[in-house]
Amino acid sequence: MAGRSTTTAGGPQGAAPPRTVRYREGPHQLVRGDCLKVLRRMPAESVDVVVTSPPYNIGLRYSTYNDTLDEQGYLDWMMAIARQVRRVMKPDASFFLNIAGSSAQPWLPFELMVRLRGLFALQNHISWVKSISIGTETFGHFKPVNSHRYLHRNHEHLFHLTRSGDVNLRRLDVGVPYMDKSNIARRGHRQDRRCRGDTWFVPYETVQGKAQKYNHPGTFPVSLPQMCIRLHGRPDAVVLDPFMGTGTTIVAALREGARGIGIDLDSGYVDIARERVRAALRESGA
Ligand SMILES: C[S@@+](CC[C@H](N)C(=O)[O-])C[C@H]1O[C@@H](n2cnc3c(N)ncnc32)[C@H](O)[C@@H]1O
Repeated sequence: MAGRSTTTAGGPQGAAPPRTVRYREGPHQLVRGDCLKVLRRMPAESVDVVVTSPPYNIGLRYSTYNDTLDEQGYLDWMMAIARQVRRVMKPDASFFLNIAGSSAQPWLPFELMVRLRGLFALQNHISWVKSISIGTETFGHFKPVNSHRYLHRNHEHLFHLTRSGDVNLRRLDVGVPYMDKSNIARRGHRQDRRCRGDTWFVPYETVQGKAQKYNHPGTFPVSLPQMCIRLHGRPDAVVLDPFMGTGTTIVAALREGARGIGIDLDSGYVDIARERVRAALRESGA
């Protein structure tokens, strides 16, 4: 555990944000605090990959954060954070933004993206598929929507934003083998691997209760940020998650040999994140 500082800026709810507390777990830094405040203090052009899932403003029940802002307030707040994210990104960095709408606010992710156009190029738009039915078989998990009007929401957006739109990626590092192996010789490919495209089926692991999801209402599976970090493909990358929650992105960074920086408002979630990172460090033998 290292330095402490006091925050002054108001959060989106107008409540005083908590004091910033920084923790070190191996090479990773976990911060309890308001990400806007913490980002403002980070050096410019110091981050290789940002992977994050902000609150979606859909009324999820977080421990501290109130996920029901008015739409304009939410968009303004997200833009202030995005400006800081852009500032700390290296010129060839990647920003993977995971977000979804809801039946009540279906336009919100698109409204946000239109605003973000002033800051970033939309280099790729990945659909994160959580569940899919092929023929009569269903794979993965979804939260059912009880409605006569709306379909179950089985996918979320994963927007890949960059400063220039011209960032080289290591597509084959997250690629898949060819189905038709004759393509390899016929087309002169050097390996049995092709780009997997922009539809990623990444199911949640099967869990028996909320405790196995760390009692957090909005986690993503660790393989999602792992694929993002691998796709960006820079050795010794610095990976940032300004809305780290239970530390999934930091665990992913650790597994990919990268260095993670995670920030969350809630001290309970930061404690869980620290415990997960310690366990992953033990697993890796570090
Ligand atoms: C969708 S969750 C992220 C979950 C994370 N991807 C995981 O797998 O655990 C969004 C997180 O943002 C945090 N949060 C909300 N406002 C924040 C702020 N101003 N600064 C930092 N974190 C904030 C919430 O506490 C919540 O844990």
